[in-house]
Amino acid sequence: MEYAVKSGSPEKQRTPCVVVGVFDSRRMSDAAKAMDDASEGAISAILRRGDMDGKAGQTLLLGQLPNTFADRVLLVGCGKERDFNEAAFAKAIALATQQLNNTGSIEAVLYFPELNVKGRDTAWKVRASVESIEDALYRFDAMKSSGDEAPRRPLKRVVIAVTRRKELTESELALEEGIAIAAGKKLTRDLGNLPGNVCTPSYLADQATKLASDSDLLSCAVLEEADMEKLGMGSLLSVSRGSRQPAKLIVMEYRGGAQDEKPIVLVGKGVTFDSGGISLKPGAAMDEMKYDMCGAASVFGVMQAVLQLRLAINLVGIIPTTENLPDGAATKPGDIVTAMNGTTIEILNTDAEGRLILCDALTYAERFEPDCVIDIATLTGACAIALGKQATGLFSNTSALANELLNAGRYTMDRAWEMPLWPEYEDQLKSNFADVANIGGREAGTVTAACFLSKFTRKQRWAHLDIAGTAWNSGADKGATGRPVPLLTQFVLDRCVE
Ligand code: BES
Ligand code: MN
Ligand code: ZN
Repeated sequence: MEYAVKSGSPEKQRTPCVVVGVFDSRRMSDAAKAMDDASEGAISAILRRGDMDGKAGQTLLLGQLPNTFADRVLLVGCGKERDFNEAAFAKAIALATQQLNNTGSIEAVLYFPELNVKGRDTAWKVRASVESIEDALYRFDAMKSSGDEAPRRPLKRVVIAVTRRKELTESELALEEGIAIAAGKKLTRDLGNLPGNVCTPSYLADQATKLASDSDLLSCAVLEEADMEKLGMGSLLSVSRGSRQPAKLIVMEYRGGAQDEKPIVLVGKGVTFDSGGISLKPGAAMDEMKYDMCGAASVFGVMQAVLQLRLAINLVGIIPTTENLPDGAATKPGDIVTAMNGTTIEILNTDAEGRLILCDALTYAERFEPDCVIDIATLTGACAIALGKQATGLFSNTSALANELLNAGRYTMDRAWEMPLWPEYEDQLKSNFADVANIGGREAGTVTAACFLSKFTRKQRWAHLDIAGTAWNSGADKGATGRPVPLLTQFVLDRCVE
């Protein structure tokens, strides 16, 4: 999609379609009014006649109106004006996008930033528009021999209209940010949606190498199992033992900041398929465990966005990636392994494998002397039970870092919710035979998983995002969501302006 911002009155636009909002009941937005005035009441006549009343979810496509220049006018129902919040804004844009794409407008001028969303400025609205448009048009048909039927004249160019000329500069920046975040999200969704037989650890390593080869600011190294052996990553390696696919540790280094500036380190769980291993999962919906690499995919997404914006910051992405499968060589319940930092772990359940690969990656992160480390993982089914698909679970040993992430999530509608990391929970991880067990029983499964990780990050400012509920949707709209790329990219952006 091509994007632009401009300022100018709707009745003067020469374009296939002008898009304006109408609130419930029949309250015209300023742009709708301008079109109405120019056309001597064409819109108000239609509204009076009862063709639409502005309820959320309604749209009405009109032909050219008298004394105006657009071929069409799309009225978009925005619901009650006082309820028009961030989510309603995003929904209205998505709805408009679907309509435009299916009704032959190859270009449209959107009059949405003028609509009041409490607490949000024009820049926010421009960014949110781009993200909603890209989300609405996203399809994954890379694996279909013939793609789903495409519209005959799809939407190709969107112009976002802002009210004042002096808003143009900030809007152009917001546009670039929106485009970059959307591109990052798309990469994350594509990688997530690929099946486990295509998206293997080696495939992810190749993608990282490719991303780096296209850029002067990004470099990439891939550690093989032999390298991990030398580093003493016994915990990570215990997970790949049952798989024919070799594990990889992908390290991407983006250097956009000053040489001596400490990097932000992102660590993403990259289990390209999680069968549970010898502690085999039940069969129902097991296909969705191809999404167990969505943490890794989100590291790719943030890298993509940061690269595209050429942000002045140092960012390291570390991806431990493996399959978790059962075979004769696989790790068994009761096995004890030694992690890179010397901790011995009793593996009581081979399905709690995410923490086993993350702990070694988190120890490895220390060598970058990070400003902070954030891991992202589809870690526990319990997180999806606790928070559903609305919020990502957030844990941190540093409250300032937690707050930065919470705020970034609020700004981007990609919200997280903080959960407790109290030492009392650690009792649940006691093992009779090793320093620590890899599971903590039925209670508070999300918390004990985070507690396990916290044992490997004592020296660092660290946060953990459990995205088990937010990384993908199940059911009819099964597919990766691209979360938490907006949250994390915003977090990085906020760090850049300091
Ligand atoms: N990848 C899963 C977590 C998961 C399961 C995320 C379902 C989303 C949906 C993880 O590796 C896992 O299997 N966790 C176990 C932990 C348990 C054995 C302590 C779980 O959640 O059941
Ligand atoms: Mn598992
Ligand atoms: Zn897993």
